[in-house]
Amino acid sequence: MLIRIFVALLIAALPAVPSAHAADEAQLKRGKVLFEAADCTSCHTDVKGGGAPLAGGRKLTTPFGVFYGPNITPDRKDGIGDWSEAQFRRALHRGIDKKGDYLYPVFPFAAFTGISNVDVADLYAYLRTLPPVARPNLPQEVNFPFGWRFLLVLWRALYFHAGPLQPVEGRSAEWNRGRYLAEAVAHCQQCHTPRNFLGGLATKLAYAGNAQGIDGMKAPNITSDAATGIGSWSVDDVAQLLKTGQTPDMDFVGSGMSDVVKGTGALSDADRRAIAVYIKSIPPIRTRKPPAS
Ligand code: HEC
Ligand code: HEC
Repeated sequence: MLIRIFVALLIAALPAVPSAHAADEAQLKRGKVLFEAADCTSCHTDVKGGGAPLAGGRKLTTPFGVFYGPNITPDRKDGIGDWSEAQFRRALHRGIDKKGDYLYPVFPFAAFTGISNVDVADLYAYLRTLPPVARPNLPQEVNFPFGWRFLLVLWRALYFHAGPLQPVEGRSAEWNRGRYLAEAVAHCQQCHTPRNFLGGLATKLAYAGNAQGIDGMKAPNITSDAATGIGSWSVDDVAQLLKTGQTPDMDFVGSGMSDVVKGTGALSDADRRAIAVYIKSIPPIRTRKPPAS
């Protein structure tokens, strides 16, 4: 009898078997890391105007017009609270909103299309735990002729390649992981690759820098060119920058890159190293040296 009671007490004291709830916790943790690495916050939060996180209204000035990041909080009226996971996935993977309209490529769906379904599900689950905020979206102020969303069909035909990134054979698992994080999740090219007059990425100049980014942001050449890129940086140097924002000459990156670093700082050391390995494998492109800022 005593033994029975003892055993019952012992069982009661044991930590609970991982339940569905525990699995949710793990999923939300993964979703949060992805959310940060993809830096969804920057474009969807009106920091200057004192807006709540992800409630939209962040002004993004580009050569193609002025865009406002929409409200992506779980608010059912103003945000995306009534979007199903499939609708959310379609926005990220195909650049199409709930109503079926094309989204402007200032929203980097051309990169996010490479995010795996599992990762999108984690992201969706995490976003749904955040506080809903009522704040109506602002209309986009797009330059001629881009004002008609249906014309985006042309842009999409030219520059949008939908679908998950397929691993490149003959490359290491680390390199492929780095490519996934850099190309799909952290969308490094969206700032570091110049755009042509239609706003498509000039892929021949991949990672060679873009002096006409959002809000006039100047992203430097991060190809491995020794003179004008980061050819002199080691893999560790790049990984260090992604962790702390510190460059090999003991400077700290600013501008849009400081937000990027907040996100990559949330990744594991292994993931940061993977990105660094991938970035260091980008072929060198010599560009004109930008004037010192
Ligand atoms: C570079 C800026 C930028 C980043 C980074 C960004 N977005 Fe956006 N996003 C936008 C803009 C601008 C729009 C509106 C596009 C339009 O009106 O066509 C948008 C639209 C959306 C929409 C459609 C909302 C609606 O009401 O139609 C969703 C959903 C969304 N983003 C989610 C995300 C998530 C999740 C992330 C991170 C994984 C993210 N965005 C990262 C700028 C960004
Ligand atoms: C939102 C735009 C944006 C995104 C996305 C972005 N960067 Fe940057 N990056 C910048 C800007 C702007 C600078 C210049 C910062 C400065 O002037 O202090 C920079 C600087 C850098 C530098 C330092 C180069 C030098 O010569 O000092 C490296 C390395 C770098 N970025 C790598 C990356 C990697 C890797 C990614 C993807 C994980 C990435 N960036 C994503 C905008 C961006």
